[in-house]
Amino acid sequence: MSAQLDEKVLIREFNEDRDIEAVEKFEKNCETGSRKGVSIFTNMMGDPMCRIRLYPTHIMLIAELLENRELVGAVRGCIKHVGTDNGGTHVKIGCILGLRVSPKHRRKGIGLKLVKSIEGWAIRNGAQYICIATEESNFISTNLFVHKCNFVKLSSLVILVQPIKYHAQDPSLNVRIEKLSVEQAISLYKGRLGSKAFFPNDMEAILNEKLSLGSWVSFLKEDDWVGLHNKEDNDFPSRAPSSWAILSIWKTCEAYKLQIRRQHPFKCFHATLSHAGAKIFPCMKTTTCDLLHRPFGFLFLYGVHGEGQRLGELIKSLWWFAYSLAGNVKDCKVIVTELAVCDPVREHVPQGPSMSCINDLWYFKKVNGPSDDNDRWKMTQLFVDPRDF
Ligand SMILES: CC(C)(COP(=O)(O)OP(=O)(O)OC[C@H]1O[C@@H](n2cnc3c(N)ncnc32)[C@H](O)[C@@H]1OP(=O)(O)O)[C@@H](O)C(=O)NCCC(=O)NCCS
Repeated sequence: MSAQLDEKVLIREFNEDRDIEAVEKFEKNCETGSRKGVSIFTNMMGDPMCRIRLYPTHIMLIAELLENRELVGAVRGCIKHVGTDNGGTHVKIGCILGLRVSPKHRRKGIGLKLVKSIEGWAIRNGAQYICIATEESNFISTNLFVHKCNFVKLSSLVILVQPIKYHAQDPSLNVRIEKLSVEQAISLYKGRLGSKAFFPNDMEAILNEKLSLGSWVSFLKEDDWVGLHNKEDNDFPSRAPSSWAILSIWKTCEAYKLQIRRQHPFKCFHATLSHAGAKIFPCMKTTTCDLLHRPFGFLFLYGVHGEGQRLGELIKSLWWFAYSLAGNVKDCKVIVTELAVCDPVREHVPQGPSMSCINDLWYFKKVNGPSDDNDRWKMTQLFVDPRDF
């Protein structure tokens, strides 16, 4: 089968000069959602590599039919250095993103061939683990990754999606919200989350990226955070009040936009997509009508963390702050975050009727190094990199 497939399908690296048009056509053909009569289209604004370009080591592979050079599949990969939440250990992980095969050519082994090729690339680039995230309901992915490729479940996460529809609730009068400089945010994150699972070694790069809108802390007005206003004081995290919270915001809407369209009811393909559009799409139950036809974007809230007995009201204030901010960002219609299911912060994110959530599963497999240390990962809290979303 594999030898036969080799004669028909070529897997090669995406060529930015030659393949853009073919990729756009392919993506349009694939990017069709599954909900009654509506579909979602992701406008990558002319850059199919926008999700991986921000990683220093990245690749996009495409599958091409040898007989007519038709592009029938694609997958993206990147390599990251991250923490494992185990005594400060850091590892190199290869991430598989955006795998898809055009509906007409599915179930012929092309998806598997793309996965094997990207795995080979990750191993050649020193990855110790390979990781993939997929919706819990995507049984095809589970079959492909777990049963065919020996991935195991690493963690359950939840994606929370809130459409910007109403006025934001006023932040609590007792709470102060302050913007941090990039240096302050780096030092606070490194101090408090630096050893957490999936904390990126290149946090500086994320916070200095142009898609980063900034990082904000909240704390009670009755408390004083000594050193917070002294930009030279690198030791300010150690003087945090007993309750405080932080989040950072990523302007995903500047990298790509989503567009929901009404479809002819008989043309409704069933396709689940491994990317933000697809992840958010099933959540948009209350908002689809408002969002039809016009491209829209979202803000991704990441690094959501905090401590202390008053954490609840501090997280809520930051959430509503981000919500108001989103209302002022052009074309931004939704705020989104992703947290580990057992992250203590999760219960404090405001749960209104318009809030939706979707379960996301992360799978991984070890591809290099001793085989007995899969259990070094503790996943109560983990860092979701905004570049992956
Ligand atoms: C997932 C996807 C890439 C698979 O591509 P594909 O070329 O059809 O997959 P393959 O033919 O290589 O199948 C490999 C294995 O996947 C599983 N699989 C694929 N299609 C399946 C289906 N319709 N039902 C159940 N299992 C399926 C099977 O285990 C299959 O092995 P088998 O044929 O020996 O039983 C394709 O379905 C797709 O593009 N889906 C939409 C996007 C998506 O969900 N991407 C994955 C997100 S992580």
